[in-house]
Amino acid sequence: MTTATKTTDFQSWSHGHLLRVEEALQRMLPAAEIAPQRLHQAMRYAVLGGGKRVRPLLAVAAGELADADPERALIAGSAVELIHAYSLVHDDLPCMDDDVLRRGKPTCHVEYDEPTALLVGDALQSLAFQLLGEYRLSDDAKSQLEMVKLLAAASGSRGMAGGQAIDLESVGKTLSVPELEFMHIHKTGAIIRAAALLGARCGRLEPQALGQLDQFAKFIGLAFQVVDDFLDAESSTATLGKTAGKDANANKPTYVSAIGVARSRELAGELHMRALDALASFGERALRLRQLAQFIVLRKF
Ligand code: IPE
Ligand code: IPE
Ligand code: MG
Ligand code: MG
Ligand code: MG
Repeated sequence: MTTATKTTDFQSWSHGHLLRVEEALQRMLPAAEIAPQRLHQAMRYAVLGGGKRVRPLLAVAAGELADADPERALIAGSAVELIHAYSLVHDDLPCMDDDVLRRGKPTCHVEYDEPTALLVGDALQSLAFQLLGEYRLSDDAKSQLEMVKLLAAASGSRGMAGGQAIDLESVGKTLSVPELEFMHIHKTGAIIRAAALLGARCGRLEPQALGQLDQFAKFIGLAFQVVDDFLDAESSTATLGKTAGKDANANKPTYVSAIGVARSRELAGELHMRALDALASFGERALRLRQLAQFIVLRKF
């Protein structure tokens, strides 16, 4: 297969799955007509019709690697996307990053109000775990319980929420590269890692293979936030669909403030290579994961 065919192939693969993810999220979110209507409308506003859906796509690709039932991996990926959407709604609140634009639209608290946005986050988080309890996602009940624990740990104080706490307490400070890495692995990497591992757990992978997938996700999760940092500095609000230049304005320590844009780009490339190395033993079976890794590193928004 030529590179051009593979790229087109990735476009049609990701497009098809994006539609399936959108449809699954539509279906899983409470209807806007159900009481309390305003909360349900706001939940749908925060989740639907935007976002790159990188996490569900990672879950689906990892599911393919593990020969999972595609429907199961889709549900697991949707649960992770709900956690991600909740994290964005809270991240944008005035008490956190105080952002007014997200996915090209007013942020949830601007479109609705702060208490509603707070509850949207709470309710999306609960809904994610409800899905993991409601649907059969693994043949083995013990493995499904592992999935619940995995997502809980990735979201909690030693995962995303912990990373966000470090982010907030670091405003105005200079962090060393290892400190930045620690923050980014938690605030962003943990959920990306959970996406890949949950997708894989919908199928079957030997412990060693699961470990390799985890390594891949760890590197690409860190790369994801390094890219987010330099896009914030280099890109435009129109392209990003969120306010560009926010990190410097808010005095956030980022890879850009620590090592500059050029070196951050190089680092993203290095992390990309290390992520690909972790997939080496899978051969062609990991094609989709490789393509997603490339998308993550080369994306423009
Ligand atoms: C933005 O995530 C927040 C970070 C964790 C860096 P994404 O760039 O995946 O945002 P959406 O979902 O595509 O809007
Ligand atoms: C967000 O990091 C990480 C989480 C939402 C957990 P950022 O604050 O950099 O994300 P953006 O740039 O607002 O999307
Ligand atoms: Mg933030
Ligand atoms: Mg933010
Ligand atoms: Mg950012």
